[in-house]
Amino acid sequence: MKILFVCLGNICRSPTAEGVFEKLLSENQLENSVAIDSAGTSGFHEGEKADSRMRAHCSRRSYDLKSLSRAVRRDDFTHFDLIIGMDEKNIRDLEQMAESESERSKIKLMTDYCQNLKVRGVPDPYYGGPEGFERVIDIVEDACQGLLEQVIHGAK
Ligand code: 4NP
Repeated sequence: MKILFVCLGNICRSPTAEGVFEKLLSENQLENSVAIDSAGTSGFHEGEKADSRMRAHCSRRSYDLKSLSRAVRRDDFTHFDLIIGMDEKNIRDLEQMAESESERSKIKLMTDYCQNLKVRGVPDPYYGGPEGFERVIDIVEDACQGLLEQVIHGAK
């Protein structure tokens, strides 16, 4: 199973999803069964570490964001089983890149995995204050728990 998390810049939301899910996989001894990565629909921040504010908020909840930003590429659509966008714009951009129904069917919205919070899309925290970064982690934690359960039960 291979899962790619996607946002716009790949420096805030999708690195958080990758960091939170990585910890959950490890806690459930699934790190060798599920491969994960993250990417951005833009390459604006190519090669950069996750945003320092995002890393600081994540670190307080014991998540280590190690990824370096990269843009989504064509071969991601063949390599990954699930391509999970953080918001609806990400989904639209990914759908434009997909070249077949089978590729399109891999694209999912992160918040569709939420089990507790009723939200559509993980809001972009980049231009806002600290509460936006905390909110990203709250939503991502809820969605990652739901995603883990789907992975364990073999569904997509
Ligand atoms: P992300 O957040 O998509 O969650 O990584 C953003 C990062 C950078 C920008 C926008 C959103 N930006 O405009 O540079």
